[in-house]
Amino acid sequence: MRRACITAVGAYAPEKVVTNDDLSKIMDTNDAWIQERTMIQERRKSAPGETTSKLCIPAAQRALDKRGMDPKDLDMIIVATVTPDMIFPNTANLVQAALGAKNAGAMDVIAACPGFLYALSSGAAFIQSGIHNRVLVIGGDDMTSIVDFTDRSTAVIFGDGAGAFLLEADTEGYGIHDILLGSDGEKGDYLNMPGGGSLNPPSHETVDARMHYIKMDGREVYKYGIRKFVGIVEEICSRNELDPVDDIGCHLFHQANGRMIESIGSRLGLDPAKAPINITKYGNTTDGTIGLLTNDALNDGLINDGDWVLMSSFGAGFAWGSILTKWKG
Ligand code: COA
Repeated sequence: MRRACITAVGAYAPEKVVTNDDLSKIMDTNDAWIQERTMIQERRKSAPGETTSKLCIPAAQRALDKRGMDPKDLDMIIVATVTPDMIFPNTANLVQAALGAKNAGAMDVIAACPGFLYALSSGAAFIQSGIHNRVLVIGGDDMTSIVDFTDRSTAVIFGDGAGAFLLEADTEGYGIHDILLGSDGEKGDYLNMPGGGSLNPPSHETVDARMHYIKMDGREVYKYGIRKFVGIVEEICSRNELDPVDDIGCHLFHQANGRMIESIGSRLGLDPAKAPINITKYGNTTDGTIGLLTNDALNDGLINDGDWVLMSSFGAGFAWGSILTKWKG
């Protein structure tokens, strides 16, 4: 069977580190509160002019370099983001131009935090169907461009960064075996950015009302998120006759909150070593988390050839996804 296989991973985070102590100088917060509630110690912040495409380009280039692939051999570039450089042209087009991927189509996917897994699913479908042979899937967000630094309950969580997967066809049993995607659009009010779209086009009023920033009911997101993460892991494992504890070599969870991941892990009975956490150093980079985490997990030797790897995510929408892959490499 022809499957989409992740053949290279790249990641990039901006240089500037913002610690919890740095934040405590501009808002009423402190390192102890942030670490106790989220595990976050620091996050990265883009430089002026370092837009989402500028985060995605080095992540993409690193993945291509690892595989030694000429960008002209790419058939499609998909970028998952909630912070596009502009509404249009899409961010994938900006990446396509910068890479010189002259033979590639380009499109963006907006599905908030699980957007990277929605983009990965789309890329996998292009390959599995035989439409394309080489697809670059990138998740990247410049979250500090939409964070309200006067709202301490959201400002401390988010950071900037990007990750990229190169997908190619495989017929030897490796690659993406199953995809679970879902949503509950009735919960859209719990996490959104109300301004800037056709509902609330930009105006002096929307700016004065701070509508171009993230609004979040953290408690509800936390509670619903934990239940959903546990549910999707159990469902995708069960339908593939795999045990989440014994058979999955590495669980790559969207890094929304370290305490949330600990709680999901303990409900599922996972060995913490199999559910790595790197939110400590990046914060929640939305579409960037799973690429950054995969890159770190590979560098730390947590993923090996033939392992079952399960990537799971949940976020605004609400929307969620879980992707089961047999790792090659
Ligand atoms: N520093 C210090 N105190 C803070 C604070 C901060 N950064 N943010 C909020 N507080 C205070 C609140 O004002 C409140 O004080 P009060 O009890 O005097 O009213 C108290 O801490 C508790 O606030 P609450 O919002 O209930 O905190 P929480 O325990 O729910 O933690 C989050 C807040 C955001 C860390 C947590 O809800 C969360 O992580 N939710 C999930 C978010 C998420 O995953 N979003 C992305 C989805 S992809």
